[in-house]
Formats: sequence, structure tokens, C-alpha cells
Amino acid sequence: MVLTLRKVLISDEVDAKCIEVLKSNGIDVEKNTKLTKEQLVAEIPKYDGLIVRSATKVTADVINAASNLRIIGRAGTGVDNIDCEAATKKGIIVMNTPGGNTLSAAEHTCAMVVSLSREVPLACQSMKEGRWDRKKFMGSELNGKTLGIIGLGRIGKEVALRMQSFGMKTIGFDPIIPAEVAAEFNVEWMPLEKLWPQIDYVTVHTPLIPQTTNLINDKVFGVCKKGVKIINCARGGIVDEAALLRALESGQCGGAGFDVFVQEPPTDLTLVKHPKMIATPHLGANTSEAQKRVAVEIAEQFVDAVNGKSLFGA
Ligand code: NAD
Ligand code: MLT
Repeated sequence: MVLTLRKVLISDEVDAKCIEVLKSNGIDVEKNTKLTKEQLVAEIPKYDGLIVRSATKVTADVINAASNLRIIGRAGTGVDNIDCEAATKKGIIVMNTPGGNTLSAAEHTCAMVVSLSREVPLACQSMKEGRWDRKKFMGSELNGKTLGIIGLGRIGKEVALRMQSFGMKTIGFDPIIPAEVAAEFNVEWMPLEKLWPQIDYVTVHTPLIPQTTNLINDKVFGVCKKGVKIINCARGGIVDEAALLRALESGQCGGAGFDVFVQEPPTDLTLVKHPKMIATPHLGANTSEAQKRVAVEIAEQFVDAVNGKSLFGA
């Protein structure tokens, strides 16, 4: 299939490389990251292509107003901010760049694990406040500890490989990845009920779908070791935030490292402010390398669509 793209709108902060690739291939492009939802609905009929990151919510309202739109590109992995069903109904192609930010998200996850083991952010904060709290911050080594990885896809695998170099034992679960494949990257596959009681740390790397919503909840915290530490750099809502707060308060959870939240930005900061919580504002993919990669990848996919090359995506 060959697409004719007369004009593409970039409505989020996407690296400048994206415009460079589109323009050098003769595709007219406009960047406007300041549109309100109403303005986007009014403007969208002018465009036949749309490129977003995560700020723009491509709702059914936007899609239904988009009389000329043929293709939507997400410069990132998840397509949660795009109503794919509404797009499909209108015959609009939705594409993403799976893999472009895998290493950055994996490294951010590892940074959370390491920071939790030694309470680096809190220790740093206490020094900034003029204290020299050597006794307060007693960490524990990662060597010999067990890391549970839920979701053994692109990011889960890279996290496993990196944390193994700290001497961690890696065990995991994924309904699609077979045990033999997990074993190739030294992850012992096991069902969740067997995994929970063994872990010292757990990190989730699944999409947010009905099967993974509140996957980690009061019941799960109840069967984990006391002091288990939890990391979510995937999607807000995979861990039940209210259950996490209860577990942090009781000590059942010994610390959490979260990059993603049910509501972004969160308005209730109780969880974020908990002393055992390390929080970052959805920074997993925020590296210059990843942002350049996803920008180029999405632009090249648009060029391929124009040239009739085979397409892949969400
Ligand atoms: P992926 O598709 O490569 O891997 C996801 C894995 O989850 C798949 O192997 C799938 O089989 C598995 N899975 C699905 N349902 C499951 C369940 N019920 N239990 C266990 N596993 C299940 O995706 P990825 O690229 O590794 O991304 C993982 C997550 O990280 C996604 O939610 C993505 O949106 C998110 N992400 C976040 C950032 C960030 O900035 N924080 C950056 C990139 C990706
Ligand atoms: C993604 O889905 O790729 C991530 O959430 C990263 C992002 O775009 O910020």
C-alpha cells in the first residue's frame, strides 16, 4: 500500500531528527506542541499524518474530526494515548517504535534497583539538608538477592542481563515467553504463585491490559517476603497504588521505585512523598540517544509508508 502524505503534524516534543528525515524525503511537516484538545480537533483535518509522543491524547473525538488522517505515529513504545479502536474503524494506520527506547528504560529500571538497595536519593537529600547520617542508611547488597521480573519482553530481558552482573538471581514470568527462551537469558521461568514468596525485588515490564491491572495488590504483598522492594517503570496501574502505600506503611514493602503512575502527573502526592518511595516523572525513555532513535524510526516508517514498503507497528 502506498500512502500520499501531503502534510504531517508533530504535536509533541519529538527530537528534531524526525523533521529532518521527513523533510529530506519530501514530506511537508509542521510542529505545534501547544495545541489544546479543542485546537487539535479544529486543526487536524489539515493533516494526513500525525506524530505524537505521550502528551497528546489522540481520542476518538480527535480521530473522528480527522477527515484526511491516514497514519498516526507514536515516537515510543506504548500506544495507550491513542484510541487504536477508533483509528482502526476509520482505516487509519497506527505505528509505534518498539525497541527504540528499550535500553534507556532498562537502564532506568536498573538505576531504581540500585538506588533502592542503598537509599541513594534519601541519603543525598539528607546531605543537602546539612546532615551526615552514616548510621541511618544501612543498605543491603544486591549480590545473592533474587529479582522477580514480570514480563520478559524487550525491557524485561535487558533488565535481567544487567542485574545478573550484580550477582542477582533472576526469576520471571511471562505468558508468551516459554521457559526455554527465558533460560537463554538466565531467567528461571515460573508461575507467579511460585515466584512471589522467593523475591527480594520485583520489577514489572508488561503492558497495562486487563490481565495486568493491579497485578500486584494486597494479596500479592501478603505472600511476598517482608521488606520486598518493587519497581514499576512500565505503566501506572500494574501495581495497585493504594495497596503499595499500605504495604510501605506496614513495612511489608521495604521500598519502591516508580517512574509511572495511574495519574500523570499525580495530584495526590501521598505515595510519591513516602520516604521509602523513589519517584521519577516518566523518565524511562528520556535520554538523548533514545529520543533520537525513536524520532528517526518513526520518521523512517512514515517514509516507508509513502514509498509503499511493508509496514509494522502497534
Ligand atoms: P514488550 O512487548 O517487549 O514486552 C512486554 C511483555 O509483557 C511481553 O513479553 C508480554 O508477553 C508480557 N506480558 C503480557 N501480559 C503479561 C502478564 N499478564 N504477565 C506477565 N507478562 C505479561 O514490551 P517492552 O518494550 O518490554 O515494554 C514493557 C512496558 O514498558 C510497556 O508497558 C511499555 O509501554 C513500557 N515502557 C515504559 C517506558 C518508560 O518511559 N517508563 C519506556 C518504554 C516502555
Ligand atoms: C513509551 O511507551 O515509549 C514510554 O512511555 C516512553 C515515552 O514515550 O516517554
